[in-house]
Amino acid sequence: MFMSIKTQFYKLKEAGFLDHIFQALESSLTAPVQKYLSASERLSENHYKLEKKSSSESEVLADALNFIKNSINTNHPLFVNQLYSGAHPISWYAEFIVAALNTSMATYEIAPVGTLMEKEIVLQFADLLNMQLEGLMVPGGSYANMMGLHLARYQSDPKIKIKGYGAENKFKIFISDQAHYSYKKSMNIMGLGEDNIVIIKSDSRKKMDLQDLESQIQKCLSENNKPLAVGSTLGTTVYGALDPVEEIQKICSEYKIWHHVDAAWGAPLVVSGEFPEKLKHKFDSLTLDFHKSLGLTLCKSFVLTPHKELLLKANHGGGSAYLFHETENENYNTGSYAIQCGRKLDSFPVWLTWKLLGTDGFKDNYQKQRQLCLEAFDYLNTIERINCLHNPEFLNLCFQVEPKDPEQEKNQYQKDLRQKLVESNELFLNFSTENNKTFFRWSFANQSTSLKDFKKAIVIMLELDS
Ligand SMILES: Cc1ncc(COP(=O)(O)O)c(C=O)c1O
Repeated sequence: MFMSIKTQFYKLKEAGFLDHIFQALESSLTAPVQKYLSASERLSENHYKLEKKSSSESEVLADALNFIKNSINTNHPLFVNQLYSGAHPISWYAEFIVAALNTSMATYEIAPVGTLMEKEIVLQFADLLNMQLEGLMVPGGSYANMMGLHLARYQSDPKIKIKGYGAENKFKIFISDQAHYSYKKSMNIMGLGEDNIVIIKSDSRKKMDLQDLESQIQKCLSENNKPLAVGSTLGTTVYGALDPVEEIQKICSEYKIWHHVDAAWGAPLVVSGEFPEKLKHKFDSLTLDFHKSLGLTLCKSFVLTPHKELLLKANHGGGSAYLFHETENENYNTGSYAIQCGRKLDSFPVWLTWKLLGTDGFKDNYQKQRQLCLEAFDYLNTIERINCLHNPEFLNLCFQVEPKDPEQEKNQYQKDLRQKLVESNELFLNFSTENNKTFFRWSFANQSTSLKDFKKAIVIMLELDS
């Protein structure tokens, strides 16, 4: 049965969609961090079966409300499991508008304002870093890292775009043992092979070891392989370490190797003016995520590069017959810079949030989080049963809790405690295992988390085994 969009809109409105959903979202703001149920318990509730027959608007509304009730409350001050938490509500509203307007950023014609907003954000970055930059929004930091490698490959050997790999393309990339796993996926997808990742060891502060980097580059050259790119990280996933990017840049410049900087988590360093000075004008590509420490909704990522038209050269291909027409606005088409054809209008939530907060707002938020991280670190150091594993350099705090019973195996204890925390519905905190050591990682991303919340969380943890 045909129904116009207008009729469908009013039917949903009459069923109370907007009002009820906004009420439910409002209630979720004060709800527990989650209501833990195992997958089999959820499946046994039988809410998720799709059927051949249609449902009424009110039935679907009940499902939507149930979905909200059963989702993780990632806005909760004690949702600290991921590198995102507590997205600013202005970005929720912006997402709703984007969904309703539903266009793609392929051309100026179909996204006249969105494409200009994207360019404005890139210009702001160029201004903040005081350098020429081109950039593109991509669906996530992992994708931005892959785009960095993709640009490096095009720059290194443009023929590959058309002819594919030849026997001469024996590429290797260099990342530290703390780098994000997305590099592994990129190497797989790009046909470069996971085995061609050279893992550089990190030092005691989890920063890339420069000596090891240089000797691995030399080894690669001596074996007649091609060093394609070094991937450094500003804000590593687990420890939040800042790689010595200026020194890494020096090595990359000396050996003429592409330098991709992954600042997916470390993005506030750009808005706060703390981006390493000697890296400006030098790096080759940069990943920045707005949905992590900058507090937007997922996934708002940029890949930036100072190489003029490289995004275009590396990605252009097809579509000119039916999509990229010659018009007075063709220079504003972004489709040929991207891999996707349909590209979500992600610039609007970023633009609107930036407009509301201003660059200063992003900076203040970061400085507040950084201060909180340091105060939390001082607090942990006063707790006998907690061992901090590092001096926090950014917004991560890694620590181990001593079991009350000294006979208990420490790693298993952290895992058991974490499961108890998850099931307590009070604190959602992640753990990691490295070098046979399991420990907790707290990431400070949520603007509404206070020192009081942090202290409360530690008390919850310590009391769970009493
Ligand atoms: C350092 C770093 N780079 C890249 C990523 C991937 O970002 P995304 O989750 O947006 O794909 C992450 C994710 O946590 C990360 O920590």
